[in-house]
Amino acid sequence: MANNAPIGIYDSGLGGLTVWREVRRALPEESLIYLGDGKNCPYGSRSREEVARLADEAVGHLVAMGCKMVVVACNTATAAAIDALRAKYAPMPIVGMEPAVKPACLATKSRVVGVLATERSLDGDLFRRTAAKYGADIEVITAAGKGFVELVERDAEVSAEAVRCVEEAMHEMLQRGADHIVLGCTHYPFLLDTMRKVAEGYAVTFVDSSQAVARRVGQLLDQYALRAEEGHCPDYRFETFADEPYRRRLQEKALAE
Ligand code: DGL
Repeated sequence: MANNAPIGIYDSGLGGLTVWREVRRALPEESLIYLGDGKNCPYGSRSREEVARLADEAVGHLVAMGCKMVVVACNTATAAAIDALRAKYAPMPIVGMEPAVKPACLATKSRVVGVLATERSLDGDLFRRTAAKYGADIEVITAAGKGFVELVERDAEVSAEAVRCVEEAMHEMLQRGADHIVLGCTHYPFLLDTMRKVAEGYAVTFVDSSQAVARRVGQLLDQYALRAEEGHCPDYRFETFADEPYRRRLQEKALAE
């Protein structure tokens, strides 16, 4: 049976728009509500309990708006809360982020993989389990993207300051010969141009999981018989806990390309 209710996509701020873009591309008939918290961003250095509480509030908000499925398009919130969210909102399917450590470890030739993520994600069980499972005989070098989220939130992803922050975070992994660098935070793909510039001269592939997440959303729509009807004309809404100018920024950034 068709279901034209929207899919909710949530992040601490602008970052989840990198996932929103892929979901929209892969599933053009689905209506989407994007919730970018904005008021409490960044999440990366908050305590696990605090992030879990914020994520619960956000998912509750999307459920109250009638979403049929929610994508937690935030690695930090996924690491802190995905099990609790799934238990609380069952049977509604909830998709979380998993850093693309597996594809990077399968593809590396140098046997050195870099992972960039927020502090909170890197010290979570989810990351530790994934790294242990796929990176057993591979050198996995992690670094917190200090300042990355703030740069994206300020629209300063192409700036001298961005180059400095990215150089600092990527220095060790580049020196040690990483040939794949995992972007383990949904804000980070917005810094790709700066990352490529900093990595010039190194043979590095950047990997993120937004396309894999969009594919997973499609699988779950089929599994739960939740797809919108054929030819359905989608509606795109943007929500925030911050203010109206921030809500408009979300909308403009999403629809820009
Ligand atoms: N975009 C988020 C993530 O994927 C959260 C960034 C933050 O607010 O620190 O981790």
